[in-house]
Amino acid sequence: MHDLLIIGGGPGGCAAALRAAKGGLSVALFEARQVGGTCLNRGCIPTKALLHGAGPGCDWSALAAEKETVVAALRSGMEKQLKAAKVEVVPAQAVITGPHTVRTSDGVPWEGTSLLVAVGSYPALLPLPGMDLPGVVTSDGLLEDIRPRDRLLIIGGGVIGVELAWVWASAGCRVTIVEALDRLIANLDRELSQSLTMELKRLGVTVYTGASVAEIVPGPAVRFTHKETEQVLAADTVLVAAGRRPATANLFACEAPVLTHGFLKVDQLFRTSIPSIYAIGDAIGGAMLAHKAEAEGEAVADLLLGMVPRRGISPIPSCVYTQPELAQVGLTLDEARAQGIPAVSGKCVLGGNGRTLIEGGKRGFVKLVFHRDSHTLLGAQLCCYRASDLISELTLAVTLGLTAEHLLRPVRPHPTFAEALTQAVEAGLEALEKQA
Ligand code: NAI
Repeated sequence: MHDLLIIGGGPGGCAAALRAAKGGLSVALFEARQVGGTCLNRGCIPTKALLHGAGPGCDWSALAAEKETVVAALRSGMEKQLKAAKVEVVPAQAVITGPHTVRTSDGVPWEGTSLLVAVGSYPALLPLPGMDLPGVVTSDGLLEDIRPRDRLLIIGGGVIGVELAWVWASAGCRVTIVEALDRLIANLDRELSQSLTMELKRLGVTVYTGASVAEIVPGPAVRFTHKETEQVLAADTVLVAAGRRPATANLFACEAPVLTHGFLKVDQLFRTSIPSIYAIGDAIGGAMLAHKAEAEGEAVADLLLGMVPRRGISPIPSCVYTQPELAQVGLTLDEARAQGIPAVSGKCVLGGNGRTLIEGGKRGFVKLVFHRDSHTLLGAQLCCYRASDLISELTLAVTLGLTAEHLLRPVRPHPTFAEALTQAVEAGLEALEKQA
């Protein structure tokens, strides 16, 4: 009998396993594919490695090899950490057979005081004709077969569609994105979305928004309606990047806990409707991000160790690794106003930022959203170099409820991108004074 059985060895499952095992619990972790899950093997890490290396005239086989080297190094690092922490890694598919029991694909039964479902998600296929045609792939297929594509057509302008469009377009391939909603990455601040669309077009990507794909026909070619005109675009590869589904189907060989559209319903302590079964990460919905799953995994381990979770699980920052990078945390001005929160924003455009000019001069901005009365930072939206790093300072500020006055206090080094934060805070304070 183990203290904890974890199903799924992605970022969430591994974080939970390490924390629980280091805290003295006996832990078995079941992983049918590779430790590291989607993020490390078929998601964030390979994509970011490609974004880093892709460019005009790049050597595709060298790029694929570099991506593999990074993935293998990180995977082996995680395997070593799990081993050192004495986590029993079981390389097998597992099904849950009861509130305290699991069975692996070879028929072996396992018992645990608690179970943690950290099974993640898989790319969703659309309920449209033509999904199984040759040349139609999901991000899994595209990332397994790194080579130039003559015409890459991407269905879905969410983060996956956009980042993979960036890789192939920056290497000179013809790329088209067809997005059903009226803008790319619709959960981003509107201005971030607009800047992104502009940069993609500058890179040569054709973007159709407000264009829902109706079918894929042999070729493959994609049929959709844009501005009331039917279009049929041929491609050599069609990437379906239209969201992800929780990997909870066939997971329960017993009565399952409550699920909503396949997502496990959990309470604030990550307990499903069966109290001994916890769930985290993509399988419970919300932002499908590795760092969210990790924070949740650690929180569950802390709870099982009888502790108050050490790490916050909100707000969750999100980043898009284009150039410039995009990052946001907390509320946008529109979201705050929609929730009836009196909010004011301060914006700094990076045209006069020395470091930005030195490193290529791409346009960018930092927007900060403050509560009108308390001056606390409610959210931040960044479009600039290193946005994915700068967002951490702002995530800390939102997490701790810091005010504009707090954010103005630290001296930020010169010349850095971070100086834009000081200027955006000053702009915010001016706007707050006007509203007072
Ligand atoms: P998504 O849900 O973010 O975007 C899918 C897009 O496809 C939507 O905008 C939707 O309107 C569009 N769509 C759906 N059906 C369509 C149709 N028939 N025709 C045209 N467009 C259609 O999903 P995505 O991009 O697949 O990403 C999945 C998850 O992975 C997201 O939660 C994302 O946050 C996460 N992720 C995050 C990354 C990051 O933070 N850098 C990187 C990669 C993934």
